[in-house]
Amino acid sequence: MKIAMVGSGYVGLVSGACFADFGHDVVCIDKDQAKIDALHRGVMPIYEPGLDALVDTNVKAGRLTFSTDLPSAIAGALAIFIAVGTPSRRGDGHADLTFVHAVAREVGEALAGDAVVVTKSTVPVGTGDEVERIIADSGAAARGHRFSVVSNPEFLREGAAIGDFKRPDRIVIGAEDEFGREIMREVYRPLFLNQAPILFTNRRTSELIKYAANAFLATKITFINEMADLCEKVGADVQDVARGIGMDNRIGPKFLHAGPGYGGSCFPKDTLALLKTSEDYDSPTRIVEAVVKANDTRKRAMGRKVIDALGGLEQARGKKVALLGLTFKPNTDDMRDSPAIAVAQTLTDAGVAVTAYDPEGMEQARPLLPQVTMADDPYAAIDGADAVAIVTEWDAFRALDLDRVKAIAKAPVLVDLRNIYNPADMRAKGFAYSSIGRGSPAANGMSGGL
Ligand SMILES: NC(=O)c1ccc[n+]([C@@H]2O[C@H](COP(=O)([O-])OP(=O)(O)OC[C@H]3O[C@@H](n4cnc5c(N)ncnc54)[C@H](O)[C@@H]3O)[C@@H](O)[C@H]2O)c1
Repeated sequence: MKIAMVGSGYVGLVSGACFADFGHDVVCIDKDQAKIDALHRGVMPIYEPGLDALVDTNVKAGRLTFSTDLPSAIAGALAIFIAVGTPSRRGDGHADLTFVHAVAREVGEALAGDAVVVTKSTVPVGTGDEVERIIADSGAAARGHRFSVVSNPEFLREGAAIGDFKRPDRIVIGAEDEFGREIMREVYRPLFLNQAPILFTNRRTSELIKYAANAFLATKITFINEMADLCEKVGADVQDVARGIGMDNRIGPKFLHAGPGYGGSCFPKDTLALLKTSEDYDSPTRIVEAVVKANDTRKRAMGRKVIDALGGLEQARGKKVALLGLTFKPNTDDMRDSPAIAVAQTLTDAGVAVTAYDPEGMEQARPLLPQVTMADDPYAAIDGADAVAIVTEWDAFRALDLDRVKAIAKAPVLVDLRNIYNPADMRAKGFAYSSIGRGSPAANGMSGGL
């Protein structure tokens, strides 16, 4: 089957390459000429493990092509996916649907045969209805083409995107007619054979499932973060609390890692958009409201935690801090809404000089953090620092040469916002070590730890 993927970013490019790998004939479309030129040269516009090899194999096999010309690229496609960005609209937090609507218009104007238009972008409830109207009004209906608009939200995680796409926990498809369901069955047939669970539902339900899933995960993270704060006050260990509750099958062990707050391209904007939908329909989601507030406060609180490790605001001014990790999580170059931005901002606002290193994110971080000096490796960042803060748990930071760190840093102060080191070991090595939710030194020393 020919598939057109409109939008070749983190979701579109990975989905397109995976569909091609299943044997479909895929064209990935983007309006960003530089992105498509890079793909033609075999250069990936994003960092995602395994993506370059997957793209290369499928381009060579003739199953994957790239284009900036939507009208000619969608010709003959039975499934046309919309995978463009839906960022927060400035000012009110609503999902900005400008890109989705623009694609719907272009598709409506260009459609030259029967096709299913699939919204893979994360879009608020009712967007499918609007996309359907736009396509019909843009001429497709008048030209007599049969089209169906389907919702198929994406659940892949950056950093593990290919595995997630090929072995999903579930596929959700919201369709309003049999034509839509039939084409989607064909699109995902290779995954049916692998017995991937598939949920067919109506379009509005499917749209809401995506927001409900992200809001629930954001809630889980925020819940354990608040437990971590309580642990620090009462002398308990949040990692053992997480284990203790996570062993309960009804709760599950995942997404219970205390840290600097959630960030990234999805949770912050999707929780805000869900709040706006709740407001529009006068149906409050108070838990999500509390989650958003708690997470926003937390990110700057993490900067203050580093300032505390420097001896407080007075002492911190003029000191130097090394930030290890800038991306919102490891194995991606994505800096969107990364907690590192708020941490760095809080530090520089307090007159602290910040030097940073990230294995993949520095190019994207530079324009967002012009006040931060980027270093070539972790040790260059640490050299002469009054404190080191681990912000993202890249593997490269899990086994730092701690003797070297002590030798080159001005002071052996380490703030571990991801709990990747063992408190007792760090103290034994002579570090003034602080982490997240691991109570008093006594509690830390007694914990099973890492
Ligand atoms: N990134 C994730 O982990 C993730 C996971 C699940 C769902 N999503 C959702 O998927 C959608 C896409 O996210 P992303 O991270 O891939 O975004 P992205 O910004 O990386 O990619 C979007 C791409 O769409 C292109 N584009 C915009 N308008 C276009 C047009 N009119 N024609 C052609 N191309 C156009 C942009 O140039 C860009 O390359 C969003 O709705 C997001 O919420 C993202």
